[in-house]
Amino acid sequence: MRTRLDHLVTSALQQGSAVPAFTCYDFTTALAVVGAAEESGRGVILLVAPKTAASANGLRLIAALRGLADAATVPVAVQLDHASDLNVMAAAVEAGADSVLADGSSLPYEENIELVQAARALLGADVVLEAELGGLAGDEDRAFSADQPAGQSGTDLAGLTDSAQVEDFVSRTGAELLAVAVGNVHGKYKGEPRLRWDVLQDIAARVHIPLVLHGASGIPAAELVKAAAMNVGKVNFNTELRTGVLVTLQDQLPGHRADGENLQGLLATWNHSAKGFAAATLATLAR
Ligand code: 13P
Repeated sequence: MRTRLDHLVTSALQQGSAVPAFTCYDFTTALAVVGAAEESGRGVILLVAPKTAASANGLRLIAALRGLADAATVPVAVQLDHASDLNVMAAAVEAGADSVLADGSSLPYEENIELVQAARALLGADVVLEAELGGLAGDEDRAFSADQPAGQSGTDLAGLTDSAQVEDFVSRTGAELLAVAVGNVHGKYKGEPRLRWDVLQDIAARVHIPLVLHGASGIPAAELVKAAAMNVGKVNFNTELRTGVLVTLQDQLPGHRADGENLQGLLATWNHSAKGFAAATLATLAR
């Protein structure tokens, strides 16, 4: 069923849990994610990568995800992830996205604010805006090992949200959700993830909109369960879902080829892998 992303996240936080958001490059994965959400009775967020949205059939995929979300028996929101191009944002919303991450985190501070303000002016009050402060290392669509920020002093602060800026940033952007950089990276972590829960706690004490943790692949479940207590109401996954699907497909492909080039069987295997990951994640974040 259709839902505002901020309402979905806020009501999960009120129950002490966070909502997982999964990048969907295709409809098979989206069906699996929504299927897992329906079986768990919990809401979920479908993320569309900006490169997908800008591709030839990206807007058709968003429209298809919108239809899937509307028909679901649980609340499902569709969000354009990490967008910095206003034209792509407008087209994605027109196609059915109900939320946008207006991502100016790689820009200087004032330009980041201007991008979110421009997105608001263009998209209007009904579109839920997430903004990001403090850039994340790593690639959003391709998983390479990425460095985490080394520490808190001097130039090491690069890639870490400056908690002293968050009140000003949130009040001037009017964003409904704030994505933070607290040692999280997109893609694979080099070694064990070292999340800066102290910085997260400081941010949570200063602003009262839901926080968003990107780069959740590779963060152990024992760490993720702490998220909601720090007002992190949305947790983004991509790499781990892809890894699971690709490993399973590689393993099962020969059998499906031998079984008369059985593409239906292969898609069922894909669905099973993605659904299993989504179900496990939904359960973890609800703990
Ligand atoms: P991972 O690929 O590291 O899970 O990050 C996903 C993400 O943050 C999407 O916005």
